Amino acid sequence: MRVLGIETSCDETAVAVVEGAAGTGPVGRILSNTVYSQLTEHRRFGGVVPEIAARAHLERIDGLVAQALDEAGLGLSELDAIAATGGPGLIGGVMVGVMTAKALAFAHDKPFIAVNHLEGHALSVRLTEPVEFPYLLLLVSGGHCQLLTVRGPGDFTRLGTTIDDAAGECFDKTAKLLGLGFPGGPAVERAAEGGDPKRFALPRPMWRKPGCDFSFSGLKTAVRQTVEKLPADDPRAVADLCASFQRTVGDVFADRCANALVQAPSSTLVVAGGVAANVYLRGRLEEVAAAHGATLVAPPVRLCTDNGAMIAWAGVERLRLGRVDALDFRPRPRWPLDPAAANRM
Ligand code: KG4
Ligand code: ZN
Repeated sequence: MRVLGIETSCDETAVAVVEGAAGTGPVGRILSNTVYSQLTEHRRFGGVVPEIAARAHLERIDGLVAQALDEAGLGLSELDAIAATGGPGLIGGVMVGVMTAKALAFAHDKPFIAVNHLEGHALSVRLTEPVEFPYLLLLVSGGHCQLLTVRGPGDFTRLGTTIDDAAGECFDKTAKLLGLGFPGGPAVERAAEGGDPKRFALPRPMWRKPGCDFSFSGLKTAVRQTVEKLPADDPRAVADLCASFQRTVGDVFADRCANALVQAPSSTLVVAGGVAANVYLRGRLEEVAAAHGATLVAPPVRLCTDNGAMIAWAGVERLRLGRVDALDFRPRPRWPLDPAAANRM
């Protein structure tokens, strides 16, 4: 089965073609995976501007669809379905992707599949790794920080979530305060290299509390206060603060995942979403998984941040179960993976 996937929910315009075998098992083949990153459009604003993002998606999407098909060596008639992120995300961008996918599906008489962006991250590991359902998932991106049990497409139980900010947002804010640039995650990771992770004691919100919820606003405030007092004549200060910050996030992730592994035991812990690209944090999660008799499995770093392949793969997983969408699907700015848990918040 071959599915074209479109991702436009934030600041990457991405289109990919992925192939999956019949059945419901893991591991597919990426036939093409194109991305246009709108970094230059947003950099001078220090963050993503929704209107600029929507316009840039519109300008690039047709060219990227053509390029993805070209690199896959396929025509539209050779595809089995067209998938697009249907939410959650910046609604102007999601509309561009959904409209494009619907038009292609209608014109070529192919099924249309609306993919939840978070499900794209949640299932992405199965595109490259032989991971069977169910598994425990730490989903950490720019807008989300959740622990979930993943049983299959559309079948999630949320064990915990952040009560304020997302982990990625905290990385981005830290980078901004230190003038390291945007996006912040990779910049903080680079700056932390060789830094002393024990130099600054930062608060670890929720640490050693029961349950699996997260909180990052107090850590953000503490970073701001530390930056304000940072000695200007100390060339190591930035590296030490970034390393200390990363260790603090690692402590929180490890503590929350330990509780999740006790509450909902699983032989596999998966980490996904942009923050999962962080090599130090992956190491910390490997340790906590091993301590609970589990194995950490993560997608390759390039498939952690937003991409079209994860949307195409979620499309394959859904198509194999016959779960396709009607052309009157409406893009959703909010779309929780576990609606019952979201209503409890
Ligand atoms: O999944 P993603 O690409 O987009 C969303 O769905 O939000 O995640 C983006 C987030 C950003 O906050 C970015 O700073 C963070 O992931 N990120 C990282 C790293 N690479 C990206 N955070 C920590 N370390 C990284 N290497
Ligand atoms: Zn994402």
